[in-house]
Amino acid sequence: MTRQTGGRQGQPLPVCDLRSLSAMPQPVGLLRLKLIGDDQRSTRRNGTMLPWQTCTIGSGLMLHASLELTPDITAMRSEFAALDASLSAEHRTCFGGDGSWTAISLMDRSAPGRSTDRGGSPTPTLNTMPSVRTFLEGFDCTIVACHISRQAPGGTLKWHYDNQALHLTEARLLLPIQVPPEARTYIGHEIVAYPEGVVWTGDFSFPHMVENPSSHQRIVLLIDILSNDWIRGRAPTALSENAHRRAALSGAAQNAWLEWPGRQAAYT
Ligand SMILES: [Fe+2]
Repeated sequence: MTRQTGGRQGQPLPVCDLRSLSAMPQPVGLLRLKLIGDDQRSTRRNGTMLPWQTCTIGSGLMLHASLELTPDITAMRSEFAALDASLSAEHRTCFGGDGSWTAISLMDRSAPGRSTDRGGSPTPTLNTMPSVRTFLEGFDCTIVACHISRQAPGGTLKWHYDNQALHLTEARLLLPIQVPPEARTYIGHEIVAYPEGVVWTGDFSFPHMVENPSSHQRIVLLIDILSNDWIRGRAPTALSENAHRRAALSGAAQNAWLEWPGRQAAYT
């Protein structure tokens, strides 16, 4: 990865006193939020945030929010349980050496250069999840890909960033289907944990990570779409406005992550 432009390059990043964050305003649409200073992970970091997390402190930028979408979560849970009990290994994506699966594709991303509209292709597995099909049929935007993601007990998706947000070309929507209460996503200086059945999205151009320090798997439906006014209209306006300022701050955060000497450490 290369150094990002547009950020506050060369300027030292402040280190934040976590205890000062408790008075910060909470984003609209958040159902459950804890600031990192309330979390035991901050103890491991000597009470300070990692450098890229400080970039959004006091910025007022909304980093994530729930969406005005109403999936049938009861049917999804039931259909997923049946799918999980029956799907063969060849239809599951596995990474690592322990053989545990990480994803089930319901819509495959188009091969680069083979599609002009970038719409994904439904897989046969989508037919086993009719509640997902019905939910997606209500979208007035292009669906690029869709899959069921599994994070194993104790799993960590390390810090990284993506080119996905409502103000960018592509966005990622997340629908928790089966989530242990201990599982959480770190994005910028915030920690989020949306409940099952609540569709949410975030500005994932900011470094983020996901951990599941529980003994249960975390199952989330991930939907990648092309951003348009329809999906932006399902979210608070604040999540997609200030595109230039978002680019500047996310560039600074990405640079801080790329240049951090401890980036290869186990928990990053
Ligand atoms: Fe990501």
